[in-house]
Amino acid sequence: MAAKQPLKQGEKILFGIVGIFVVLATIGFVAMETVRMTSDEPMFASKTNYSLSEEGHRGSRIFRESQCTACHRAMRNGTNMGLSLDGVGSKRTRDWLERFLRKPEQTYETVTIDHGDAPKEAAYVMNMASADLSAIAAFLSELTAEQGSPSSPMPPEGRSEFIDSMVKTWAPDWWKEKYTDIREKATPAEEGELRE
Ligand code: HEC
Repeated sequence: MAAKQPLKQGEKILFGIVGIFVVLATIGFVAMETVRMTSDEPMFASKTNYSLSEEGHRGSRIFRESQCTACHRAMRNGTNMGLSLDGVGSKRTRDWLERFLRKPEQTYETVTIDHGDAPKEAAYVMNMASADLSAIAAFLSELTAEQGSPSSPMPPEGRSEFIDSMVKTWAPDWWKEKYTDIREKATPAEEGELRE
């Protein structure tokens, strides 16, 4: 084996930079964990709520027992890999949810991946007992989101300069003719889906 070579100038600089990054990342991580552990406030405020009726409670139990949590998240339970249903009640009406569960392919605005006829993986859902699907729809419609949260269809209340400038920069002109700015609508659509 060759004798150990001293480091070249370039190597020293390179290792030095990598070393600085590692030190900074470690300091950052320790600082973040310290703040997180000593603070009484949660790091990320939860912006979704639920207040369950009796039928909603029944629906939530059926939801858990019917393997929905294998692909979904609701009330902060379930997988992070799939579609989170927290806040879905602010986006969809109970009617829409029930229609979707029974006839996903006819109700969803685009092609469905898992809900629908076999062999789609969640094909069993549309064939569940009718009363169970109603209860699940009641449960999901009671999962609401605060206005302005990521799961809410409505942006934060009041005029935001940030949103204005993003719309101005990124929305192509033809969108302005095709779509109405949700902030300028007096009330969301009365029926069916609340989201455009
Ligand atoms: C195999 C994975 C899987 C399982 C199991 C599953 N889902 Fe889904 N779900 C999806 C996917 C993917 C979508 C998006 C639509 C699609 O592509 O099928 C979806 C969409 C939905 C939506 C519409 C959400 C929206 O606002 O667009 C609802 C409601 C829903 N699922 C409820 C349920 C319920 C209730 C169960 C259990 C009875 C369930 N899902 C089981 C994968 C799954």
